[in-house]
Amino acid sequence: MIKQIAIFGASGRTGRILTGLLLEKGYRVNALVRNPLKFSIEHPNLFVIKGNVNQKEAIEQAIERSEVVVSVLGHVKGSQPLFQTKAVDNIIEVMKARNIKRFVVLTGSGVKMPEDKWSLANSMLTFIIKSIAPARFNDGVEQCKRILATDLDYTIVRAPLLTMQKPKGVYKTGYLKLGFFSHISRYDVAGFICNVIENQIFIKDVPQISY
Ligand SMILES: NC(=O)c1ccc[n+]([C@@H]2O[C@H](COP(=O)([O-])OP(=O)(O)OC[C@H]3O[C@@H](n4cnc5c(N)ncnc54)[C@H](OP(=O)(O)O)[C@@H]3O)[C@@H](O)[C@H]2O)c1
Repeated sequence: MIKQIAIFGASGRTGRILTGLLLEKGYRVNALVRNPLKFSIEHPNLFVIKGNVNQKEAIEQAIERSEVVVSVLGHVKGSQPLFQTKAVDNIIEVMKARNIKRFVVLTGSGVKMPEDKWSLANSMLTFIIKSIAPARFNDGVEQCKRILATDLDYTIVRAPLLTMQKPKGVYKTGYLKLGFFSHISRYDVAGFICNVIENQIFIKDVPQISY
């Protein structure tokens, strides 16, 4: 049974919810955060590591003794254009050195897979996002390419618009036909990530999640 999980992006909106959920479920959680003073979660099974994802030693500390690694990192004000890709490169390097195989990553539904069901509305939305935030978009695509090129047991969870609404507990996953207004609560995304970890499902897969 999995006992310890490393999480990158724990101080973010999805990250905080996911960290709380994992602790509630009895896991030990190592959270790498840049500013522990801004990270209000306290729990005997939570180990907070102060650092940045461009520091190899901080990543090593976070991954120490973990059986699963999760990234819910996202671009914030001032993020470098390829910060997620560089973070993922660093994380993958440390995982390989430690022989840790399970990697669960959250990204946007702008990342396309050949199995996706095409919809005009979603294509238009992707085009708009790509035009408004090209660096963020490209970073999402690039980080996934890096992960797909590994032999890790990855699950790349792709979400459309994330909201803070209450969880519904019911949602679709897999290769979906997304529309212009597709969305999903961060609470349900966190629940799905827990499920993916606990039940070892969607291994070497890139599912979307949406209502
Ligand atoms: N927003 C959407 O509608 C949407 C839709 C689909 C998918 N997504 C994807 O979902 C993921 C999570 O989104 P979110 O909105 O929940 O995230 P968020 O609230 O924006 O949080 C981003 C997290 O990344 C961390 N981070 C940024 N740069 C870092 C660095 N250099 N080193 C360490 N940590 C760093 C932030 O830390 P600090 O607290 O220190 O800043 C924060 O914990 C992202 O990958 C995003 O692309 C978002």
